[in-house]
Amino acid sequence: MRGSNLQVWIEGNKLHEGAEAIVFEGFWLGKPAIKKFRRVRKWRHPELDQRLTKSRLSAEVRTLLKLQNLGFPCPPVYHINLKDGTMFMGKIEGITMVKLLQSNISTHDSDKLFSKLGKILRRLHLCGITHGDLTTTNIIISDSKIILIDFGLSQSTYEVEAFGLDFHVLHECLQATHPSFPDAMKKIIQSYLSSDEKQFKEFEGGVVPLSKDVVARFEQIKGRVRYHD
Ligand SMILES: Nc1ncnc2c1ncn2[C@@H]1O[C@H](COP(=O)(O)OP(=O)(O)OP(=O)(O)O)[C@@H](O)[C@H]1O
Ligand SMILES: [Mg+2]
Repeated sequence: MRGSNLQVWIEGNKLHEGAEAIVFEGFWLGKPAIKKFRRVRKWRHPELDQRLTKSRLSAEVRTLLKLQNLGFPCPPVYHINLKDGTMFMGKIEGITMVKLLQSNISTHDSDKLFSKLGKILRRLHLCGITHGDLTTTNIIISDSKIILIDFGLSQSTYEVEAFGLDFHVLHECLQATHPSFPDAMKKIIQSYLSSDEKQFKEFEGGVVPLSKDVVARFEQIKGRVRYHD
């Protein structure tokens, strides 16, 4: 802000440099924040690259705003710039689930965590939203609460396939990265199926698939994938 001492963004350390995004921590108007920048992919056609960057960024922002309105826990959006593919959001203090599961976590605590994940996933789905990239790097444990991040591949949908795919992505991640938790998926599914659905509202334009139908679709997807292997 010109004419005042207040700096809108103070950049701190780089937290992450992935295939798609570069993430910095810092302060947005004095509040702990994250700058997420989608890098230019040189091997992609520039127009396609810009389109993908824009669509992922807008999907992420659209979903975060929607979730915020519905009172679903997620990082608050502070600012976006579609032109340069940058967004600023609140920083969630905590540890990613990938790190937590790789630490010395007790079975009691990991069981509790899987149960909470099943619950929050059902809550997300009952908002009419699928995550699209539900891996343990996109889950932060903050004050023993679960906060989902990275909504660039999320969708507002009522199609059971998209809901089943959230389970499938999570299942593949757990199998590949966390083989020492063979019962994780069972625990997550149990809790997803038993999460109370009455407290959630219905939405205009469609009905969220029943939890048992989502799980049945996940089993179907698993079978399809096995068949094609
Ligand atoms: N709001 C946030 N609060 C705290 N940490 C965050 C936040 N957003 C991102 N991070 C950290 O940065 C990492 C990468 O962010 P994110 O998952 O959004 O990017 P990405 O799209 O997966 O990037 P890539 O696909 O290139 O790996 C996360 O795993 C997390 O550690
Ligand atoms: Mg991510």
